[in-house]
Amino acid sequence: MNVVQFILDDKIQTINFDNPEYTPTTTVLKYLRSLRQHKGVKEGCGEGDCGACTVVIAELAEDKLYYRAVDSCLIFLPMLHGKQLITVENLAGASGELHPVQKAMVDAYASQCGYCTPGFVMSLFALYKSRVEATKEIILDAITGNLCRCTGYQPIIVAAAKAMKARKNDIFDKKEAQTIALLQQIERSKTIGIITSVQQYFKPFTLSDTLKLRSAHPKAEIISGNTDTGLRVTKRHELLPAIIDISDVNDLKFIKITPEFMSVGSGVSMEILKENSKEIFPALYDILRLFGSKQIRSIATLGGNLGSASPIGDSLPVLIACKASVVVENKNGTRRIDLTDFIRSYRTTDLKADEIIYSVEIPIPDPDTIIRSYKISKRRDLDISTCSAGFRLELNKKSHIVKNIILAYGGMAATTKCALTAEKFLKGKVWNKTNADKASDIVFNEFTPLSDARSGEEFRRLAARNLLLKFYEETASQQ
Ligand SMILES: Cc1cc2nc3c(=O)[nH]c(=O)nc-3n(C[C@H](O)[C@H](O)[C@H](O)COP(=O)(O)OP(=O)(O)OC[C@H]3O[C@@H](n4cnc5c(N)ncnc54)[C@H](O)[C@@H]3O)c2cc1C
Ligand code: FES
Ligand code: FES
Repeated sequence: MNVVQFILDDKIQTINFDNPEYTPTTTVLKYLRSLRQHKGVKEGCGEGDCGACTVVIAELAEDKLYYRAVDSCLIFLPMLHGKQLITVENLAGASGELHPVQKAMVDAYASQCGYCTPGFVMSLFALYKSRVEATKEIILDAITGNLCRCTGYQPIIVAAAKAMKARKNDIFDKKEAQTIALLQQIERSKTIGIITSVQQYFKPFTLSDTLKLRSAHPKAEIISGNTDTGLRVTKRHELLPAIIDISDVNDLKFIKITPEFMSVGSGVSMEILKENSKEIFPALYDILRLFGSKQIRSIATLGGNLGSASPIGDSLPVLIACKASVVVENKNGTRRIDLTDFIRSYRTTDLKADEIIYSVEIPIPDPDTIIRSYKISKRRDLDISTCSAGFRLELNKKSHIVKNIILAYGGMAATTKCALTAEKFLKGKVWNKTNADKASDIVFNEFTPLSDARSGEEFRRLAARNLLLKFYEETASQQ
């Protein structure tokens, strides 16, 4: 059956892909813009950068609804299956009374041209529903993915603070039981297979079905959060002939912590990973705070960040510094690969055609090991790294001699790469300013990075050198 189902406007909507109006890679943004009553959602960039297309998706987990703001330009229609789609038109009550976040925006005059306003309202609505304590930092994080071209941010922040302070039950709480009952009517266990004359789109719900599909369709594109692959459709206008959508495979969404390691399923979102790494891997948390925006982190997955094997993938340098390994799986079993060996060359991994990334295992470092992460970009939020780094230092406490050091860099070569000569120089030497200076000069000459729109070669070399000096300054006092 070429059909997916989700809730919109309090009703189950059925999209039948036999109708050529929509294809399996039609984005939720394009779908909404095709409906007369949902024009509030706007298209700005079409690539996750502006937030004008923000909608909220509510999902059922353990008998509760969880709400997250997402960029509808990055989500293919079948990714909505079994969920509730909420747009700005759904927020007001039946008699027209505004939702508290809308009311607060009006009261604070928090809009100028208004193009971006629905997206802001939806990001704030998701924050309202999250019920987390809305500090200024949390409010700013919630709207990092929304650009206002009129620079009307201050009134929006004021409106957000006011709405969050006066949180109470809203119409969504009142309708929760009804929404859950509708969601439970949508079948979410059997693989959905959508076959059109030009595309095959498979949506499994279990790991074993995923592995069977992978083996039967080794050339199909796997999509998880679709924040990377989606751009091939929205920006490059590619037709993806075969897709395996693993965004709803719950078997890949686990985090297991033992005294030895943290094991993270490949389907875990960057936002969930960020929250879970705060205490246990602060260096990972630090880099994830600067990863995309809340809308991106809510759907982008760890598996996708490694699977794209991008030289500027932000999780890679710090995970290499953590000595992480990747567990990959096909229908015959699993194998474990050091992350450094997993990335083979520019945007190429060690995955075989019938394998998927199952999980990432990150060993818990001993308390004396220092791990740090750094990201240099043109602006702090929602920007791609010009140069990034993940460093690990193991010192002999008494002699201050470097027992082991890892200096992993992103943005300096075709893949994430360690400054091996500098590492070799530092091993067995005292961790002091003279040696750190010498090692930083080695780092300067160790890479031949590209010059591109983001930065020149010279700047990248300098940045890489200076990050090592910064690391030295930050760790010298801890000896
Ligand atoms: C606006 C914007 C901002 C961004 N900001 C950042 C940033 O700050 N830092 C950063 O590093 N990246 C950033 N990205 C890139 C992207 O969000 C990340 O790389 C993300 O982690 C990709 O995850 P995904 O689940 O969306 O991947 P997808 O797009 O679903 O997949 C990406 C690749 O990984 C493969 N893949 C995914 N899961 C698996 C699996 N389990 N097994 C095998 N292969 C798999 C896919 O086949 C595909 O080749 C940004 C992207 C956008 C659009
Ligand atoms: S249109 Fe800009 S984020 Fe979607
Ligand atoms: S109100 Fe005009 S772009 Fe934000």
